[in-house]
Amino acid sequence: MTLTLISIGLTDERDLSLRALEEARKCDILYAEAYTTILDTDIKRLSALIGRPVEPLPRSAYEEASQQLLSKAEDTNVGILIGGDALSATTHISLLLDARKRGIPTKVIHSSSILTAIAETGLSLYKLGRTVTLPLPEKAPPDTVLKTLDENREHGLHTLILLDLDTQADNYLSIQQAITTLLEADRPDTYDEDLLTIGVSRIGWDNAEVKADTALKLKDHAFSGPPQALVVPGDLHFLEAEALKILADCSPDLLEGRKVTGEVQRLIEKYGASCRRAIEQLEYAELPTGVTREEVKALIEHAFRYLEDAEYYSVERKATALASVSYAEGILDALRLLGLVDFEW
Ligand SMILES: C[S@@+](CC[C@H](N)C(=O)[O-])C[C@H]1O[C@@H](n2cnc3c(N)ncnc32)[C@H](O)[C@@H]1O
Repeated sequence: MTLTLISIGLTDERDLSLRALEEARKCDILYAEAYTTILDTDIKRLSALIGRPVEPLPRSAYEEASQQLLSKAEDTNVGILIGGDALSATTHISLLLDARKRGIPTKVIHSSSILTAIAETGLSLYKLGRTVTLPLPEKAPPDTVLKTLDENREHGLHTLILLDLDTQADNYLSIQQAITTLLEADRPDTYDEDLLTIGVSRIGWDNAEVKADTALKLKDHAFSGPPQALVVPGDLHFLEAEALKILADCSPDLLEGRKVTGEVQRLIEKYGASCRRAIEQLEYAELPTGVTREEVKALIEHAFRYLEDAEYYSVERKATALASVSYAEGILDALRLLGLVDFEW
């Protein structure tokens, strides 16, 4: 009949959308996959809300019995509840492909995911490079993570590092262990203790935490609990730098000397706004003999035109825009200093 992958969302059963609930209630057999992430809920609570029995789907059963599961989906409606978004940072796509190959119709109900919720750090999702998972130390060395950090950094992109977990053994990689592992790899050109790093824990939960600091200091920060992840920022747009201070409690010292992009745009906007305010608020002063109101007005209009140029050029020729807005500011300031008009910056 149908195989439906039903995303739960990041936190607990209350994240299930109305569509997810509707689809789950239509299923004859409902499983919950509990090994790819940690949620603040359990089978009992999911089952109580949906109003149908839910069976746990441990990892081994998922892999070995996937053909069996698909056989069931040939005759009945089978649903699998999955933490976060069903297809984000998980391997469930292979199940969808196998189902389609067997001619079983499939459906995916989407939801919130760590891949988008990471925007709570203030970093732009458009500037995320390749996301990577740091494996538990007993499984593999951090080589892929270090390689990805290098590659993303080369393009000025941020790196989201998910932290491996083994829910059946109640073993998860913490931010502290992850940073220790990266530092112990002894690749200071890629990751050293002074590197600005952002730790996030339990994003979307009531006790979510976002903290930016040097790797060394972040290692000793007591985060709220699993699940946790790390972000190593690439080049920062000035708005991202501002957001890190406000949303991730990042000390301004850590941002000093970093390559901050968009700074010229910020100055164009800042000076442009103060020039507009000045033009709106200025009053003509008592003019000395030899200076007419028309002459002063003509200079103000001149400043206004430079301001318009600045806005026009700010899209593609930012240096020209900054020069134009500076001209406007200079003309207005000269009028004020000569006592011909009165306003405050
Ligand atoms: C394999 S991914 C699964 C992601 C899930 N399908 C989703 O869409 O969010 C699981 C990893 O993502 C990170 N993660 C998931 N939820 C998180 C949360 N609420 N806060 C912080 N990190 C989270 C952790 O590193 C965790 O080990």
